[in-house]
Amino acid sequence: MEKLEKFVIVGPGSQLLGVKIANILGINHINTEFKSFPDGEIYLRLNLEDETLLENKEIIIIQSTGPSANSDQNSRLFELLMIIDAVKRIGVEKISVIVPYLAYARQDKIFRPGESEFAKRVLKLIDIMGIDEFFVVDIHAPEVLEVMSCKTVNIDSMDVLAKSIRDMGAEDIVVVSPDKGAIERSKAFAKHFGDNILVDVFEKKRDVKTGEITMSGSLSLENKDVVIADDIIATGGTMATAIKLARKSGANKIYAAATHALMLQNAKYRILSAGADEIIGTDSIDNEVSRVSLANVITDYLK
Ligand code: R5P
Repeated sequence: MEKLEKFVIVGPGSQLLGVKIANILGINHINTEFKSFPDGEIYLRLNLEDETLLENKEIIIIQSTGPSANSDQNSRLFELLMIIDAVKRIGVEKISVIVPYLAYARQDKIFRPGESEFAKRVLKLIDIMGIDEFFVVDIHAPEVLEVMSCKTVNIDSMDVLAKSIRDMGAEDIVVVSPDKGAIERSKAFAKHFGDNILVDVFEKKRDVKTGEITMSGSLSLENKDVVIADDIIATGGTMATAIKLARKSGANKIYAAATHALMLQNAKYRILSAGADEIIGTDSIDNEVSRVSLANVITDYLK
């Protein structure tokens, strides 16, 4: 069968990662023109003059939906829907959507009466646009992907994160999970540092009304390099609390690692002043702690 020509559409939320992926795949990329109207509505168009360029082609859309200095997650989600709508209207052969960080992923279940399971609704919205494949990276609760009818893949970033921490010189490592809910992920992460790497856990409680975090636990971390791994750093509260406990428990170097380091509010300050030596995030979010690129990992899934 003849191979279809492919194009990468680089969304406003994944400009660096999108171009890197297109370059690795050796295919053309198209960016977007986007703005907000005075009333706050979003405008987006694919930056091309001749739509026939995309007709009957295979399209890979890359758009992370995290907040950043110049946008918020709602705008990023709408931009994504607009990109899909534009390529659908043009009439392409196949649409693969890559959303490295999915906004609303943490609203995966009902915590209080009257809430919405909005993670599922967001995925359903993307799905009913009529896409063929959906890729996300380390989604908070992978089971929510079951609501989609298209093919879904939850890409694992652990290998590249672990490699980067090893390259920074970490040795005699203990992986610490800041939360019982993240223990399985931490165990899987530890395997990327070698056999028999210890995994320990702090117990985190978050008040569902105020969001306030309390954490407890005393571990034996004397002279150990400690990797504290989470899927998301948002305000840094979880990470900073875990780091303080790790420091009290005698940790040597502390690496604060997250796939999606949103770094909101005082997150950097909180984490560093709590005693972290390094903050490591991936380029699912484009900011100053995005030290690890997902480009090769994602590309491997697309090939
Ligand atoms: C929650 O379950 C997530 O895995 C993260 O622990 C959380 O999103 C981190 O948020 P923050 O940085 O605001 O404590």
